[in-house]
Amino acid sequence: DWTPGNVIADQVEKIRAQVGAARVICGLSGGVDSAVAAALVQKAVGDQLTCVFVDHGLLRAGEAEQVEQDFVAATGVNLVVVDAQERFLDALAGVTDPETKRKIIGREFIRVFEQAARDVVAAAHVVDGGAGAAGTADSAAHPVEFLVQGTLYPDVVESGGGEGAANIKSHHNVGGLPDDLQFSLVEPLRELFKDEVRAVGLELGVPEVIVWRQPFPGPGLGIRVIGEVTRERLDVLRAADLIAREELTAAGLDRDIWQCPVVLLADVRSVGVQGDGRTYGHPVVLRPVSSEDAMTADWTRVPYDVLARISTRITNEVADVNRVVLDVTSKPPATIEWE
Ligand code: XMP
Repeated sequence: DWTPGNVIADQVEKIRAQVGAARVICGLSGGVDSAVAAALVQKAVGDQLTCVFVDHGLLRAGEAEQVEQDFVAATGVNLVVVDAQERFLDALAGVTDPETKRKIIGREFIRVFEQAARDVVAAAHVVDGGAGAAGTADSAAHPVEFLVQGTLYPDVVESGGGEGAANIKSHHNVGGLPDDLQFSLVEPLRELFKDEVRAVGLELGVPEVIVWRQPFPGPGLGIRVIGEVTRERLDVLRAADLIAREELTAAGLDRDIWQCPVVLLADVRSVGVQGDGRTYGHPVVLRPVSSEDAMTADWTRVPYDVLARISTRITNEVADVNRVVLDVTSKPPATIEWE
């Protein structure tokens, strides 16, 4: 019988058999797959696992806290947080081309993650050395050897099912690891579809906001600020995005909508009348879409009253935004994201 409980029991056994007493590392992205994979490995081998969360400053409001506080509280994982916000902003300064942004974000992400992994490996050696000296010679022989990945069954099928060498196939599509960082992969979700991953996550007590998070691109808000990415622009977009999410959730539309990018047209200015006078601010675009797999999509017919509430709140509450527009284009011809 397929039950989340059976999957968990089965995977816990497999993970234990695979990793033995070795140490394991897992990168968390804020999304459901890496969170559920980490929770499973945590259940199987507890403190042998260290999770790494790279805060690139491109997540939406509350999402870093969901990982750093709620996920840790719910699962008890060891978490290393790397605050890399400045670094990403510096690297993105002056960049406007979408693919260049993606490359930079992917490159910086992998560099930061690799350094964090090195630090975890080094710390593990120190700890193991100490423990070994104190008499448990066993652990000294077990450095970090395994890397957890939230690969799902559709990813396996798409990539031809090969196991291959360790390769951080994050949302950033980055290639292989440097020689001094070689891991074997632990992929406890390889046989699961997304809905099954969610069921397993709920059973493991992963917070619902993470379990039910809609698809969100790896480069995050970096590709939703159209134009150069700056801290101020990210703050504006985060505020507008939070309002849209709050109102869509309050209207009970989360499960009808595949995802709803909120996009800041940072290089476009529009004239408004707000309060006592004219403003010269920026438009934001709402892009609610319905889809099965993101390959094709239709724009979601969100009720007018919900759109009206989102528009009123954003223009009242977010300084600099004086216009809210709705994207009514299907995919194709338009992609879901604007960049
Ligand atoms: P598009 O915009 O191509 O998006 O219709 C299809 C789906 O992919 C997501 N997306 C990305 N995900 N890295 C990601 O991990 C990216 O660079 C990226 N670009 C788009 C998008 O949010 C949608 O779900």
